[in-house]
Amino acid sequence: MNYSIELMIKEHDDINRMNLVMRNICLGIMEGAEVPTEDFRHIIDFVRNYADKHHHGKEERYLFPKMVERMGAIAENLVTHGMLVEHDLGRGHIRALETALNEYEKRETPELRLDIITEAMGYAHLLQLHTEKENSVVYPFAERSLSAEDFDYVNEGSKRFESEQTEKGVQQKYLTLLENMEEKYRRA
Ligand SMILES: [Fe+2]
Ligand SMILES: [Fe+2]
Repeated sequence: MNYSIELMIKEHDDINRMNLVMRNICLGIMEGAEVPTEDFRHIIDFVRNYADKHHHGKEERYLFPKMVERMGAIAENLVTHGMLVEHDLGRGHIRALETALNEYEKRETPELRLDIITEAMGYAHLLQLHTEKENSVVYPFAERSLSAEDFDYVNEGSKRFESEQTEKGVQQKYLTLLENMEEKYRRA
């Protein structure tokens, strides 16, 4: 398996671990717990900077453009009208979650609690299906269809981006946050 594909599958695991944290938080709210607005904002930070900028960044900069360039109409459908649209839908859920949290901080109504749960679970569900599709269809398809030289480009770009992000401490910051949140919201 290529370096970049292996790395991105591992990142899918990280994203889905945070999705489980969100699910546990939402279950807690349904059982009567306070809405942890501060922790939701940490999750939004994780989603925007790790799941989106760091992970989708590598897909959108290196892998997907190479697929569209080399694989034509099939990649247009699968990537441009599929994966990229879902990235945008995810961003929409997170924007709506942030809006609901802002409103909730002004007035703690059941309607806003419902909006918070809806957007958080909408995002978690979307990303779970999205990452499963990439792991089982999109990435294997790319590995079968792109040449070794094409993957050199994707792998090299991903490595360069990884080390820039490591210098900024991105991975360490967000993986530590993930562990702390898992610890805090673990359910028996
Ligand atoms: Fe994706
Ligand atoms: Fe992905």
